Amino acid sequence: MDSFIIRGPSRLEGSVRISGAKNAMLPLMAATILTGGRCILDNVPDLRDTRTMMKVLETLGIPSGLEDGVLSIDATSVTSFEAPYDLVRTMRASIYVLGPLLARFGKARVSMPGGCAWGPRPIDLHLKGMMALGAKIRIDHGYIDAQTGRLRGGCVILAVPSVGATVNIMLAASLADGETVLENAAREPEISALAGALRCAGIEIEGDGTSTIHIQGRESVEPFRHSVIPDRIEAGTYAAAALITGGDVTLENCRPGQMHSVIDKLEACGAEVTVTDDTMRVVGPKKISPVDIETGYYPSFPTDMQAQMMAVMCIAGGSSTIVEHVYPDRFTHVPELRRFGAKITLDGHVAVVSGVKKLEGAPVMATDIRASSALLLAAMVAEGETKVLRIYHIERGYEDIENKLRALGADITRVAD
Ligand code: UD1
Repeated sequence: MDSFIIRGPSRLEGSVRISGAKNAMLPLMAATILTGGRCILDNVPDLRDTRTMMKVLETLGIPSGLEDGVLSIDATSVTSFEAPYDLVRTMRASIYVLGPLLARFGKARVSMPGGCAWGPRPIDLHLKGMMALGAKIRIDHGYIDAQTGRLRGGCVILAVPSVGATVNIMLAASLADGETVLENAAREPEISALAGALRCAGIEIEGDGTSTIHIQGRESVEPFRHSVIPDRIEAGTYAAAALITGGDVTLENCRPGQMHSVIDKLEACGAEVTVTDDTMRVVGPKKISPVDIETGYYPSFPTDMQAQMMAVMCIAGGSSTIVEHVYPDRFTHVPELRRFGAKITLDGHVAVVSGVKKLEGAPVMATDIRASSALLLAAMVAEGETKVLRIYHIERGYEDIENKLRALGADITRVAD
């Protein structure tokens, strides 16, 4: 297992190219299962999660190859209908194969993902959605065992606008008989990206980006070629890096139009933010102003940026309150940030961060993808050396992060333990 050694403080300067979005790519990879043909995805980030999804597809008998950001997937035939525990436990989004396998073959067996570092993370809405389209589901020795004849379109009302359930139901509905209406759907840009790919594949979809999505199912889905949208969370993380280090960083190949809630908070902290359609320049202030943040569903502030902004608040000139509404237990970074000397109190899903004058480098441990990037941000402003252990979490979601940070001026080295 590798670690990162970071020596701070440093100031980031220059430009960085934002990679394709992990959370947009994984649904597209699952969508290829619907097609029974060869699909190409462009702008694919080479992440640990990309490789895990390739393994999931390979387990089903679907070969794929990734070269220079181009991912080719041949879903002509499928030889297994099971996503095993060993893969699902390392990446929950493996459950995205449930909808397309059921829709195309009438059967699927997918391991239950179980809990994660942020709490229970249920999948009941995925399963209720499949049942509303006609699937029979039973839980068998830790696996979801799903069977159906042809799925039939129906009305699904989600209790909460879950991204994952919206993805799975859109995929299943694409091959269902008739129209599916999905109410209280997730409105994240990654959902519209999936809708765009499915439209390329011949499916009629309306309403993506709003709370009601209409999907007209067909008997077949055409193989498609589609480009993965830029990663708004990776972009937000580099923007936060510019902010925390008082730096001047230009993000290339990003979509500021999908980042309003994050940009508002960067500016409230005192950053100067200049955007074009696909670039964003962030100049950090001399002294960061404290801000209050509440996470929520898109277009509210993303839970996937909560940890990074908490790292920034650790050195703000005052006290900030962070309320986590999406995953109330998503605070595994708090004890690690305290190791840098941060002053954070936690009461249920509310954290209060009292800014300190400086942080000090310390050995810390990565616990999930975004918590890990928060530790890197803190390490870059902390005085002295920080060792971040278990960086495989970072590699799940950030392409080439050490080279990107180093090119911006961070002193970061990978070491094998
Ligand atoms: C996705 C993202 C993750 C992000 C999260 C919230 C991917 C691969 N992952 O995760 O990075 O942090 O959205 O933006 O895209 N819920 C239920 N029942 C369910 C499903 C979800 O109650 O069946 C609840 C969850 O507990 C949570 C909320 O719905 O409170 C949102 O979760 P969801 O949008 O499903 O998150 P994921 O799709 O797992």
